[in-house]
Amino acid sequence: AAIEKGGYKHFMLKEIFEQPTAVFDCLRGRLDAKAGTIRMGGIDRQLDLLKEAKRIILVGCGTSWHAGLLAEYVFEELCRVPVEVEYASEFRYRNPVIHPGDVIIAISQSGETADTLVALENAKNQGAFIFGVVNVVGSSIARLSQAGAYTHAGPEIGVASTKAFTAQLTVLYLIAIKLGYAKGTLSRDRYLHLINELALIPDKITEVLKTAPEVACLAGKYKNARDFLFLGRGYNFPIALEGALKLKEISYIHAEGYPAAEMKHGPIALVEESLPVVFVATKDAYHEKLASNAQEIKARKGNVLAIITERDTLFEEIADDTIAVPASDEILAPLLSVVPLQLLAYYTGLAKGLDVDKPRNLAKSVTVE
Ligand code: G6P
Repeated sequence: AAIEKGGYKHFMLKEIFEQPTAVFDCLRGRLDAKAGTIRMGGIDRQLDLLKEAKRIILVGCGTSWHAGLLAEYVFEELCRVPVEVEYASEFRYRNPVIHPGDVIIAISQSGETADTLVALENAKNQGAFIFGVVNVVGSSIARLSQAGAYTHAGPEIGVASTKAFTAQLTVLYLIAIKLGYAKGTLSRDRYLHLINELALIPDKITEVLKTAPEVACLAGKYKNARDFLFLGRGYNFPIALEGALKLKEISYIHAEGYPAAEMKHGPIALVEESLPVVFVATKDAYHEKLASNAQEIKARKGNVLAIITERDTLFEEIADDTIAVPASDEILAPLLSVVPLQLLAYYTGLAKGLDVDKPRNLAKSVTVE
């Protein structure tokens, strides 16, 4: 077992550290930054269908649903197509309106999640076209899909999804960039810029992984917290949700993710002295607004931990603790900002002596309802 873990103490840590490779493998043979092209067999063959889609519906569970939520922001921005994101378990039972010509993108690491599988079967019967974004080759969801793109993250053993998530995001970015350019909703300049930035992500993730010792310190500092809040806006809102999910799965600390500006409609009531509040605060269009949200937490004596873009003095002044990631295009920054949150969950679970690879009550793949 020690050999399988490649010298790492746990599969979760190994898989977090495999992310530069996972993302690289996902881009390999698809993205050619020099030529300015994206080639994906399963997408290219259906490009007309995607271009004409009146609506895209993303379906998944858990972490895969978070990838879908981010993809909603990305597809709407780059492709100007209406997008819905659905929890598979809700979608399968609530008699959703599905039209022929709706395109469904199914997101699943295992390809075996029962709720996702049945939701897709129902939608397919109603005339929707199913694209699969799946990790496990030949899995049930991969077979049910009419087209798709594998995430190529390699086997994921840790129950909490890490590298499969960043690989899902990578595939979804590739599709959105490709489609946006094909539709003409994405200018050539921005298209080329995004392709170049995406190609740089694996090396930037390697940089982010160097923050592991700092994150481990923070985990030690906050491991006895009863609650955690995770806040973000825009592209980093789904990452706030994912950070909270990871922490609760692995450390059993109650954690809530929220859109930062929405905190005043509820979660702010929880803020008291030393409540840790994580801001996913890489630089973007809402940066100053997010900073004023952080000041509201400080004014109530909460502790602000911020994931920031390097050399961001605004947040360095407000936050009690910061973890810096390299600069990137704001749309791609989630691929970087999620990594310290995965590490925070890991090191907090570790500091509490918990079984991080097999947290209680959770399963890697939920094949029953
Ligand atoms: C379980 C796993 C999660 C995963 C979710 C969806 O809850 O513990 O890590 O995100 O299922 O699984 P899928 O294989 O469909 O992505």
